Amino acid sequence: MRMATQTNLSVRFCGFEMANPFILSSAPPTGTGEMIKQAFEAGWGGAVTKTLAHDRDLLANVTPRLASLSFAGRSDEAKKLYGLENIELITDRPLDIWLKEIGDIKTQFPRQLLVASIMAGGNDRVGWQELVRMCQNAGADMLELNFSCPHGMPEKGMGMAIGQDPEVTARVTDWVKSVSTIPVIAKMTPNIADIRVPAKAAVKAGADAISAINTVAVIAGVDLETLAPLPNVFGKSTHGGYSGPAIKPIALKAVAGISLDLQVQVSGIGGIETWSDAVEFILLGATNVQLCTAVMFHGFGIIEELKDGFAGFMEDHGFTRIEEFIGKSLPFLTDHINLDRERKMISQIDEATCVKCDRCVISCRDAGYQALTAGPDRIPKVDRNRCTGCSLCVQVCPVWDCAKLVAA
Ligand SMILES: Cc1cc2nc3c(=O)[nH]c(=O)nc-3n(C[C@H](O)[C@H](O)[C@H](O)COP(=O)(O)O)c2cc1C
Repeated sequence: MRMATQTNLSVRFCGFEMANPFILSSAPPTGTGEMIKQAFEAGWGGAVTKTLAHDRDLLANVTPRLASLSFAGRSDEAKKLYGLENIELITDRPLDIWLKEIGDIKTQFPRQLLVASIMAGGNDRVGWQELVRMCQNAGADMLELNFSCPHGMPEKGMGMAIGQDPEVTARVTDWVKSVSTIPVIAKMTPNIADIRVPAKAAVKAGADAISAINTVAVIAGVDLETLAPLPNVFGKSTHGGYSGPAIKPIALKAVAGISLDLQVQVSGIGGIETWSDAVEFILLGATNVQLCTAVMFHGFGIIEELKDGFAGFMEDHGFTRIEEFIGKSLPFLTDHINLDRERKMISQIDEATCVKCDRCVISCRDAGYQALTAGPDRIPKVDRNRCTGCSLCVQVCPVWDCAKLVAA
């Protein structure tokens, strides 16, 4: 096992020197001050509180409020989550308790980044500004504006109802900035045609950083016994927010798009489970990363693996500071029209590792270019003239590195 301590994992975010780039996002793992303290003791670089609001805006939670999609794999393997839907609301704890806890956490952990996530209505200037003053007086290092919760709150003109409207996003950011003395992060919703539009509105109105993404609006499924959509709350359901590995590609595109378009620091969120997920977000422009679902499933202890693996990546590439590789993959991105149309690759199947399952042959026959045929030995043969290098065989092959593309 590598020693993460030998590598400098610190990174500067909105002027705050974080010990490492790993932050707990605003969610159940940051549901109380006590939990945040435990996470800091375990080694997390920062935490965003569960979203706080004025007591008058709190709604009781329902049960159940989660539903998940899992990939079973082989029947003898444990099921593995690829997506989690939640219909949980913001905190249900009184604001004065939270304010006291923020002060306590900062006294005990002055070097860890503590962000207060806040929410009020799109027309409630006084409400936003009171929250700002209270959280900064309590000792929060930064504020995160929840413009992005996709369920429950939008019906009250909050959360995603703000983030989906660039004008309201700008207006609220401006209200906040006019009274804030600490950095302000605007948290974006992916449930919009182009996430760069509200991000730009927030930055123009003075946001110091953008965090992306909050959950993706979904219905996780329908129970075929009761015929009720999930989660089933005593015979009724409603759409919720999707998180976990399934949303990582959506989040990566959001982070890359914002990073390419705007001169602003980005906190990357969405489906991060491993150190390599975190590295990908940073390569596409994030300065740090936030995690929720992975911690809900594996606990605060995953921070050790995250830090060790991340340090290993830095050592392997000779990076001494995270700043050296923030956005390093962005120059690879271009418009589709600029991609190389001249050079081609074709399929190659490794006979030694092929398990003769026919999956690539069937997919190529029924959804590809009929370039793969299985002989009597059931090992697929590639017709070089028919293969267009689409890579469907690589995607469906159950064996790592058995089907691959090579120069045509
Ligand atoms: C059960 C649950 C509750 C959440 N509550 C909040 C919240 O109060 N405020 C907020 O900004 N985001 C909330 N989120 C969204 C997460 O902070 C995060 O943006 C999202 O889950 C994507 O990250 P992940 O894939 O690592 O979970 C919640 C997510 C879950 C799963």
